[in-house]
Amino acid sequence: MTALLDAAERLARPELQALQLERLRATLQHAYDHVGFYRAAFDKAGLRPDDCRSLADLARFPFTTKADLRDNYPFGMFAVPEDQVRRIHASSGTTGRPTVVGYTQRDLDTWADVVARSIRAAGGRPGQKVHVAYGYGLFTGGLGAHYGAERLGCTVIPASGGMTSRQVQLIQDFRPDIIMITPSYMLTLLDEFERQGVDPRTTSLKVGIFGAEPWTQEMRREIEERFAIDAVDIYGLSEVIGPGVAQECVETKDGLHIWEDHFYPEVVDPFTGEVLPEGEEGELVFTSLTKEAMPVIRYRTRDLTRLLPGTARVFRRMEKVTGRSDDLVILRGVNLFPTQIEEIVLRTPGVAPHFQLRLTREGRLDALTVRAEARAESTRDQRAHAARAIAAAVKNSIGVSVGVEIVDPETLERSVGKFKRIVDDRGEH
Ligand code: DLL
Repeated sequence: MTALLDAAERLARPELQALQLERLRATLQHAYDHVGFYRAAFDKAGLRPDDCRSLADLARFPFTTKADLRDNYPFGMFAVPEDQVRRIHASSGTTGRPTVVGYTQRDLDTWADVVARSIRAAGGRPGQKVHVAYGYGLFTGGLGAHYGAERLGCTVIPASGGMTSRQVQLIQDFRPDIIMITPSYMLTLLDEFERQGVDPRTTSLKVGIFGAEPWTQEMRREIEERFAIDAVDIYGLSEVIGPGVAQECVETKDGLHIWEDHFYPEVVDPFTGEVLPEGEEGELVFTSLTKEAMPVIRYRTRDLTRLLPGTARVFRRMEKVTGRSDDLVILRGVNLFPTQIEEIVLRTPGVAPHFQLRLTREGRLDALTVRAEARAESTRDQRAHAARAIAAAVKNSIGVSVGVEIVDPETLERSVGKFKRIVDDRGEH
């Protein structure tokens, strides 16, 4: 097995830390020398890149936020001349300007390497076929997965997102071993397999590599059972590189190993910004260690998780992301994440794994309705029972009352990529 690992995956922890410090210092210098935003931010904090003498010193440096990237739209965060930028990606964001990211040729090589490493950790091997159903285009999912799979020596089927009936046909005809797709879109494929009368357990697929949105252990169980595959988690974000920042190993499925030779993680208190000790939950923050075109220093991801020691790899792990602060719903003073509802809906008999959360306003208070789809075979009584069970479970485990509507099969919107769980019908607020 170790023969299969990259050199960095075979380092001892102290060697890894020495490499990280060397790369961190070079990155801080590169950012300071070539990006006006970082120079101004460090100067304002009274810091020079040289003031970082240990990994812990990074905590003295200022954070970077999505707003900072937007303010420097489109290319103000680039640290190399534009003719050295080989590729641009962008994430749409809900409002206003997209966030733009750039890559040099070396950055693209790094990215392919970390995605190849991710696919290998997921159980993928050279010679296998990889069906990529992440969207191709400005989104980093499709092309990121694509070049990583090629780098590992796999055959890539660049299906992209959408045209669901064709996806099912391609999977039957081309017989891929691995699928890379959002978990919510995998459920859409599941319906389509069933519609076409094909048992999804009989496909050639062995492994699914799921990411780009939060998903729960309950969702893992559902997908693994219905498709008879191993389902593992891949994490990443465009600002840091794209998919392939962290990956769950198929042999342990115990959270995601962060490819720490390229991305340095911290978890901070989302309110005070203070660095939290390993094991405590907070906001994940990344500093790139090798990026040329767009280094990021202490980038606030808004994703909530904990750091844990390494297991299957020398690198530290992050726990499955429970949610991002943007998806937090505060209902009569109680905090709630869509993943908490996912856990409950997927455990409830008689309902399908399709659900949406609808926010409305009743007087001055926000109200939430869980809309979940009945399974085709479930009776009226079973639906009523499921509605009561979901409401009671939310009340017991989260501590807040929500409405529950069990709707007819095949009536909720289906995902074709990153799924929007929350429908906000509150009007002006
Ligand atoms: O979603 C990159 C990606 C593509 C990752 C394909 C994995 C697979 P962005 O569009 O910039 O990039 O969105 C990044 O998506 O900050 C998280 O909130 C969320 N996210 C990504 N992966 C996971 C995951 C891509 N495995 C944002 N679990 C991140 C939970 C995830 N959330």
